[in-house]
Amino acid sequence: MLSGKRILVTSGPTHEPIDPVRYIANRSSGAQGTAIAEALRDLGADVVFVSGPAQVPAPAGVAVMRVETALEMLAAVEAALPVDAAVMAAAVADWRVRNAADQKMKKTAQGIPMLEFVENPDILQTLSHHAQRPALVVGFAAETENVIAHAQAKRARKGCDWILANDVSAATGIMGGTENAVHLITADHVEHWPRMAKSDVAARLATRIAQALA
Ligand code: C5P
Repeated sequence: MLSGKRILVTSGPTHEPIDPVRYIANRSSGAQGTAIAEALRDLGADVVFVSGPAQVPAPAGVAVMRVETALEMLAAVEAALPVDAAVMAAAVADWRVRNAADQKMKKTAQGIPMLEFVENPDILQTLSHHAQRPALVVGFAAETENVIAHAQAKRARKGCDWILANDVSAATGIMGGTENAVHLITADHVEHWPRMAKSDVAARLATRIAQALA
């Protein structure tokens, strides 16, 4: 169904260094992005998998580009172009530390270090407005309240075609778990998918992508 199609998937968190031994990061196991890459591969796509430091192993049978930081992830994404479609499942850190130290920071009598932050580029938004924009760009929205409304606003703001929105509030147990409950949001409709295994979410998304690219 997807043979001859080249599809980019971003996955996992990014790590933004504070010093050589410390970092800030988002909570992301990489499970959903990995499952999506596997499902696209299983439909015959050529998958380019750009992954931050994830907890789950990268999928077999795909081209893996490993990165640490958001800036490295953006560079890897741009290096992977052109692609027919992109699924941006990574949990990218919104900020990096402006004053990251070259050497390990020490506890001193001078007191506690002050970190300054600078905004990271929005990779999804950059890709959605890129000269080599893929025909289909899919983003994620992890929300803890007003899931649909926030995700619809996010789709418009970022300029992507679809958003898979999920409720990651603690009570759902979705983060780090094996199941996901998502809503597929397009420019003109919202589909509520039942709660299912992350692998089933991935398979369903891969089928939808194959239909859209056909
Ligand atoms: O704005 P928010 O982080 O909630 O948006 C989530 C979506 O945007 C995900 O698809 C994520 O991969 C993508 N994103 C990105 N680069 C960023 C922040 C988010 O690609 N710096």
